[in-house]
Amino acid sequence: MSGSDEIHRLLGRNPTAAAFAPGRVNLIGEHVDYHDGVVLPAPLEQGTWVGIAPRADGSVDCVSSRFGRVGPHRVTPFARTDDFSIYPLALVAALRERGIDVPGFTLAVHGDLPIGGGVSSSASLLVACARAIDAWLGLGLDAATHAALAHRAEREYVGVACGTMDQTVAALGRAGCALRLDCRTGATESIPLPRERVAVVVVDSGTRRALQDGRYNACVAESGVASRWFAARRGGITALRDVSASDLAAAAGRLDAIALRRARHVVEEIARVDAFVAALRAGDDARCGSLLDASHASLRDLYEVSTPQLDALVGECRAIDGVFGARLTGAGFGGAIVVWCRRDAVERLEREALPRAQQRNGIAPRVLAML
Ligand code: GLA
Repeated sequence: MSGSDEIHRLLGRNPTAAAFAPGRVNLIGEHVDYHDGVVLPAPLEQGTWVGIAPRADGSVDCVSSRFGRVGPHRVTPFARTDDFSIYPLALVAALRERGIDVPGFTLAVHGDLPIGGGVSSSASLLVACARAIDAWLGLGLDAATHAALAHRAEREYVGVACGTMDQTVAALGRAGCALRLDCRTGATESIPLPRERVAVVVVDSGTRRALQDGRYNACVAESGVASRWFAARRGGITALRDVSASDLAAAAGRLDAIALRRARHVVEEIARVDAFVAALRAGDDARCGSLLDASHASLRDLYEVSTPQLDALVGECRAIDGVFGARLTGAGFGGAIVVWCRRDAVERLEREALPRAQQRNGIAPRVLAML
C-alpha cells in the first residue's frame, strides 16, 4: 500500500492536507552540527507520510500505522506526552512562538524508517508535519522555515539538544544528491552522488537507541565543556569549529582528557568533510572511503559513541572486495552504518558480510537503503 493510501485508510477519508518528508543518511560530518561544523547528509527514499483532518474541538489526536491511536491532547499550552504525539504538539508549539495559532486536527502518520535506527525518523516526522500544516493553513512558509520550525520543536519541546543537520536535509535535500550544509551560516549546496560507479549502502545493525535516552545530550554536554574552555582562552573562538590543530596541541595535559578527545574528534571531523567533498568532486572513490574509515575510528575512539556491534558490522563490510570505506551514521549507540562501495560489491556485501556480522552480533543486519 502506498503512503497516501495508508494515510487515507488511517483517517477513514481523504486528508485535507498531506505531506511526506524523507529520512537521511549522513555520509560524513558526525557530531559536528552542534559545534557550527560542516556536514554532508543525503535524503533517503524512505520517510514519513502525514495527513491532516481538521477537528472542531481544538484538540489534537494522532493515529499511526505503527503505534495506533493516541490522544486527544489539548493543543495549547504545550504539555509533554510520552508517545509520538509529542512531535506534532511540539511543532504546533514552535508555530505558536511565531504567532501562528493552529486549530485542532487529527494527524495520520505512516512511516517506513526504523525508529532509533540512526536515519532520523523524528526529523522526518517533524518536517512532514510542518509541510502539512503549512499546506492546510496556507501559511506560505519556505523549506528553510520548515527546517527551522522542526529544529526548534525538537530542541525546545522534545528536549533533544540536537544540531540542524537532520531537519535541514529532510526539508531541503534533493534525491540522488548529498547536501553540504554549513551549520554556522546555514548555507547549503547539493552535490550529485556518483551513482553510476558508487553505491551508498545504509545497513541497519538491528540495535537501537533513543535520542531521548540522555546519551546524546551527554555528548553535547561533554563537548560543550571543551568549547567553553577554548573560548575562554583564545579570542575568535565561539565554537569548536574555530579551534585549530595547534590549539588542540596546546591544550594537551591542561584540558580534561575526555573533553580534549571530544574536541579533537570535532576539529578533525570537520576537516574530513571538506576533504570528502573535494575527493567526491575529483572522483576519488578510494579517498572518500578512507575518510569514512577515519571518521568511524574517531567516533569509536575519541567521541566514544560506537558499540561493539557497530564496530563488528563496519569491520565485516570493510573486508569485502570493492568496499572503499564504512562508518556508523547518525548519533551512534546503535542504529545504522553507511558503506561506500563499488556498485558491483553490493551483492557480495549482502551475501558475505551481513551473515558474518549476524554470527558475531547475534542480531541480523539488513540493507535499509541504497543510493
Ligand atoms: C542526531 C542529531 C543531529 C546530529 C547527529 C550526529 O542525528 O539529531 O543533529 O548531531 O545526531 O551527527
